[in-house]
Amino acid sequence: MKGLRLAFTASVLCASALLPGPGTAWAQQAKSGSGSSAAKAPAKPAASTPAAPSYAQRYAQVCAACHGANGRGEMQGVPALAGQPSFYAITQLFLFREGRRANEAMTAVAKTMTDDDMRGFSEFIGTLAPVPAPPLATPPDAARMARGKQLATEYKCVFCHGDDFSGGQQVPRVAQQREEYLATTLQEFKSGKRPGYSMAMSEALRPVPAADLDTLAYYLARFTPAAK
Ligand code: HEC
Ligand code: HEC
Repeated sequence: MKGLRLAFTASVLCASALLPGPGTAWAQQAKSGSGSSAAKAPAKPAASTPAAPSYAQRYAQVCAACHGANGRGEMQGVPALAGQPSFYAITQLFLFREGRRANEAMTAVAKTMTDDDMRGFSEFIGTLAPVPAPPLATPPDAARMARGKQLATEYKCVFCHGDDFSGGQQVPRVAQQREEYLATTLQEFKSGKRPGYSMAMSEALRPVPAADLDTLAYYLARFTPAAK
């Protein structure tokens, strides 16, 4: 427990050293939620040059095809962004851009981003309210849910991701994330293919048997606060 807490604090420090921290203006704007990012730019005097598209518009043009206009798309393997903290989003865009998190689609998208783009897109993602998973075809298997809950408690997933798995700061929301994405990304953390922005996840998963990762993914994908 102490080790986890220390590792977690270290990761916060590390993130704030490398990236615009939660105290910087853009994060506070995102937090205060004062309107959409479309409204963030101060009104400019009318000029002959057309205004650059806002990040909300650029998201709609570039990202929505895969991630959905509301941040929850329907494509296999593409994570929902709705409800993700902006600080988590920027750490991941940074990792994709630097080639430390590998994915053909996202690396292509991120590699042309400037620091301002990473901030702008992340700030916009931070404004997307969580979108629940589509209704289930079959009710969750009670025994598997109970086992998932037990694992999430035993391995302290709730310690960082929160009792309701909604995350915060650089910790992602995992509640109702797509199951196949959760399963794959947990395997990738465990195997080292996804190194993470910090060591938090590889350390958290070290004691977790690989065979239990699918149960954790099953549980988190179906998690509702009422069912906890
Ligand atoms: C061609 C499809 C595609 C497009 C277009 C796309 N993404 Fe992604 N995105 C993905 C996939 C697939 C992943 C998961 C990659 C993985 O498994 O490592 C992802 C992951 C992410 C993540 C990390 C989410 C998490 O939970 O870790 C962020 C943030 C993100 N994308 C932002 C964006 C933004 C911003 C844009 C537009 C500028 C964008 N994406 C455009 C497919 C896409
Ligand atoms: C010490 C804090 C900590 C603990 C404990 C922890 N996590 Fe995480 N988790 C994180 C952080 C921080 C990230 C962001 C990954 C990075 O560093 O890039 C993350 C990322 C994830 C992701 C990726 C989500 C996405 O959208 O890509 C999943 C899934 C996840 N954690 C599930 C779990 C599960 C399941 C457990 C318990 C076995 C757990 N976590 C325990 C801190 C933690």
